[in-house]
Amino acid sequence: MKTTDELTFEPDFLRAIEYFREQEVYRPSPLREVPGPGGVTVWAKDETSRMGLGAFKALGGPYAVARLLMRSWKAETGEDIDAARLKDADLRAFASRQTFVCASAGNHGLGVAAGAQALGASARIFLAKTVPHSFDDRLAERGAEVVRAGETYDDSVAEAIADADRTGATLLADGTWPGYTDIPKLVMEGYTVIAEELRSRFEETGIWPSHVYLQAGVGGLAAAMAHMIRKNWAEQPEIIVVEPEAAPCLIESHKAGKPVRADGPDSNMGRLDCKEPSIVAWNTLEKCDVRFVTLTENEGEAAARAVTELGIATTPSGAAGYAALCRQIQEGVSGAGFRPLVIVSEGPA
Ligand SMILES: Cc1ncc(COP(=O)(O)O)c(C=O)c1O
Repeated sequence: MKTTDELTFEPDFLRAIEYFREQEVYRPSPLREVPGPGGVTVWAKDETSRMGLGAFKALGGPYAVARLLMRSWKAETGEDIDAARLKDADLRAFASRQTFVCASAGNHGLGVAAGAQALGASARIFLAKTVPHSFDDRLAERGAEVVRAGETYDDSVAEAIADADRTGATLLADGTWPGYTDIPKLVMEGYTVIAEELRSRFEETGIWPSHVYLQAGVGGLAAAMAHMIRKNWAEQPEIIVVEPEAAPCLIESHKAGKPVRADGPDSNMGRLDCKEPSIVAWNTLEKCDVRFVTLTENEGEAAARAVTELGIATTPSGAAGYAALCRQIQEGVSGAGFRPLVIVSEGPA
């Protein structure tokens, strides 16, 4: 049974930003201004080199690993610790007995692997057949055990759940489902840092975006951003959630008034190719007055080429927000005061 609490996303965004400010590898990601279609200037939040991992997911998995270690240490010893204490030998010895498990379309796994490696823990990452092979090597470089499991992303999620049940490892998913929401909310809490970086920049200049385009897989990024924008931004933009036509689980859930599965063929927007929404993301987006757009495969491909030509090398998943912007400009949504913001969410694999 879902409870209201289970679905509610109330992140402690201040502790997230505080945590990252203490990390040596942390820098706010660049906010670029690029010339978009029809002469429109576009703000592009460039996540393609976030903390050496190549995607915004570097803010989610590593943060959740750290928080979970702090929490389990407290449960075992009663001691409250800060992030700096995680570097101490006794904490690293404690972490070395822990394994984090997840399924991934690629980037979330990299985040979990990097977070585990940095703190001395282990990671086991389940990848479906559809995930590009380049991720196996990148995961192995981060010390993770890689398990190829299942035809689709959903199959790999099931395998990761079964593994955690069998082995006692900690399941660190980025999606949520009834009975499992607490840990993924920590992942989403990490993503709130993007919205806070943007807020402080726009506050400095006093110029705010009119439209924000957020690409979605299970919806964790879109929901974390939309929540923070509605909560903390002085000027409110239109928020557009962008999905592949092949995996429109959030728009279909919106139409159904409840989380529903949305089947379709495999998408070339691989990191957005999730057929089941995060129930927390769905519930959060329902409260944030967002609109939804779905993209064809060609639109994703064309946007990846266009954004790459603008100097930010990316993929169809990374450029999906820009693709939705292009569609809206074609449909005539622009003019005075139109100041769009997109997130280029990953670099090339
Ligand atoms: C590059 C990229 N963009 C967007 C997303 C979508 O994020 P979410 O699954 O939280 O909706 C992902 C998820 O893996 C991703 O890797």
